[in-house]
Amino acid sequence: MVNRRYRLMWIILAAVMLAVVMLVIFRRVETQNTATQLGKNSVKEVVAAMTTEEKVKLLVGMGFNADIPGLPGPTEEDKKIPEKVQGAAGRTHAIPRLGIPSLTLSDGPAGVRIDPVRKSDTTKTYHATGFPIETLLASSWDTAVANRVGVAMGREVRDFGIDILLAPAMNIQRNPLGGRNFEYYSEDPLIAGKMAAAFVNGVQTNGVGTSIKHFAVNSQEFNRMQSNSLVGERALRELYLKGFEIALKESKPWTVMSSYNLINGTYTSQSEDLLTTLLRDEWGFKGFVMSDWFGGNDAVAQMRAGNDVLMPGVGSQTEAIIKAVNEHTLSKEQLDRNVERVLNIMLLSPSFQHTTFSEQPDLKSSAQVARETATEGMVLLKNDNNTLPLAPSKVALLGNASYDLIAGGTGSGDVHKKYVVSLDQGLTAGSFSIDEELKQTYMEFIADQKAKRPPTAPFMMPAPIAEMAVAPDRLKRLAGETAVAIITLGRNTGEFVDRKVENDFTLTAIERSLIEGVSQVFHAKGKKVIVVLNVGGPMEVASWRNKVDAVLLAWLPGQEGGHAIVDVLSGKVNPSGKLATTFPVSYDDVPSAKTFPGKELPGVEPMIVNPFAGKPAEALYEEGIYVGYRYYNTFGVKPAYDFGYGMSYTSFSFGPVKLSTNKFEDKVTASVTVTNTGKVAGKEVVQLYVSAPKQKLKKPESELRAFAKTELLKPGESQVVSFTLAAKDLASFDPASSSWIAESGSYVIRVGGSSAKMDLGRDLVVEKSRKLLAPPSGLKELESR
Ligand code: BGC
Repeated sequence: MVNRRYRLMWIILAAVMLAVVMLVIFRRVETQNTATQLGKNSVKEVVAAMTTEEKVKLLVGMGFNADIPGLPGPTEEDKKIPEKVQGAAGRTHAIPRLGIPSLTLSDGPAGVRIDPVRKSDTTKTYHATGFPIETLLASSWDTAVANRVGVAMGREVRDFGIDILLAPAMNIQRNPLGGRNFEYYSEDPLIAGKMAAAFVNGVQTNGVGTSIKHFAVNSQEFNRMQSNSLVGERALRELYLKGFEIALKESKPWTVMSSYNLINGTYTSQSEDLLTTLLRDEWGFKGFVMSDWFGGNDAVAQMRAGNDVLMPGVGSQTEAIIKAVNEHTLSKEQLDRNVERVLNIMLLSPSFQHTTFSEQPDLKSSAQVARETATEGMVLLKNDNNTLPLAPSKVALLGNASYDLIAGGTGSGDVHKKYVVSLDQGLTAGSFSIDEELKQTYMEFIADQKAKRPPTAPFMMPAPIAEMAVAPDRLKRLAGETAVAIITLGRNTGEFVDRKVENDFTLTAIERSLIEGVSQVFHAKGKKVIVVLNVGGPMEVASWRNKVDAVLLAWLPGQEGGHAIVDVLSGKVNPSGKLATTFPVSYDDVPSAKTFPGKELPGVEPMIVNPFAGKPAEALYEEGIYVGYRYYNTFGVKPAYDFGYGMSYTSFSFGPVKLSTNKFEDKVTASVTVTNTGKVAGKEVVQLYVSAPKQKLKKPESELRAFAKTELLKPGESQVVSFTLAAKDLASFDPASSSWIAESGSYVIRVGGSSAKMDLGRDLVVEKSRKLLAPPSGLKELESR
């Protein structure tokens, strides 16, 4: 009995103890589950659970891993955190306690820039595809082309385990010497904005993000980190901000990258006007803003302005922000707001979603995209007597770049591609043959010159190799033994330096004599001379183009360049590219020739000190709204090749422009019939320009307000192309009232050769803004008569 009672007591005791233990375990698990976690809790709850140190950790990046003396590197603690993707441009800190992963960011815009070989695993390679440069894509005037490249590039971003591509770049090509013009689309903001939107939409279909950059007015490299762009409000709104506005409204980039420069006295990354009032309040941007690498000089001002993330992140920034929070000079609300924006985007990221990635993208299909899109943006500038297309034949292939094609530019926009198809390879693959002895001589010359040149610092542009002089005897032999001469003129271009006029915009003396010599002997034998321009931006053509029979502008066409050039030269693809940037007759004709790239300000203390920071400087944007064709067509300056110009192997006719109304109320539809009147299939670009009445505001002679590309039209085939214009498409920005106004009067709408008139009965105030980013008084701007 007693025993039984004891046993019962023991059983009860054991059960109680078990219950207690279970309770403790259960409570533990429960607390673990309820610890705040991103994704399980709301972003606001996560922010509330973060310490100030954690918030700042999220907002200040993880440091830059390149060992460049004088550049602040990662902290000792950060150095220990292994890189997810070697060679990516940057990353943010993870906060594992709260389920916040690290984001990996990588350049663009011509492909994913990462290291092709990793220390951690030398058995594999990690090459990414080198796509054509943005300037080429814009010259397609086909947003589907930009979108297609975006889809393919975004796939590689995802497959490499990257979260955000630092692209597209979309500054205005203000001056042909801009060192990074090749990374930008156009001198025109409508083209830049539409192309960027299409590209962003393409990349982001892969579940990864983009960063449209460099916001804004970063149209030069000279002293770019300390250069103050002095620019009028109207030029700002109509040109330098317009493309960003379009891109943001027509796509949803996860992030925006502020630029290095100052606008009218304030660093863009420290400008509340730019990053909060305009970008968020007016345009409705919901993502986060990151600084350009080491940009700006005041981390706390950047936080206040709404530059949420500082890249690549420096220890001193962390200290400054924490101090400001503790001393209440930076409000908790401002800090929390920035953190929230980052976390909202974080939720979308592959790193947060634990998306699996192969690290081995389908390079073959991307290469196909690179090749096909490259052909879409090449521009046929000249084609006397149907020199092109070329039937398979033996070619005398001249010029270094024929054998050493320049696929893309240098700097952060470079891509570590597996190979580049040169023009000689493209020709032989395309049933042409080339003079092998000449090839051999060029290959030896190039190898020899490369071995002699000084080593190139990381990110920098290698010194160009001067052309080889080709002796007259050899030219004579070539003219006898080959059917045609192709001379490729190459220009490298890259980040950190602007181009030069002499020997860069203009031809070198050897290039001139090469063109002269080749043309003389080949023409004497009744044979043609073709020039291929393998360049990142406009160059002088007026003085030499008459000596040759055809000129193909191939731009920097990406890794498949040689094949793509031959696709066009041979007629496999009928060229349909048009210039999205003007080719002036001489550099002196450029409206900003006198003020570009600005001047250094002697005696002014540097605002930033690092090996790339340059000196305090200022750039006067005195040409105002008259940039590119807006200047040439208003002031009657004839360019060598106009904006919008490009030839085809077929011809097109444009029917009359038909408007849905001649009295504009709030919109109008313009339609035109385009017919292929030639003998081969082709695509045509349809450009709609508007000449607005000049009332209170002076106007450019005409402005591009819509564009499209036809389908591939067979000979005799037609297509009706329609555009709808809203009031904003007619409006100009009036600085006096800070509003977009379509002024009353008669508007001329021109498409192809034909035009139609439309009246607007009263001034329409389309959008009211606020006075923002105003220049100091005294900035003189060019005005039309
Ligand atoms: C460039 C940016 C680039 C960043 C990261 C900077 O030098 O201006 O365009 O995204 O570096 O590589």
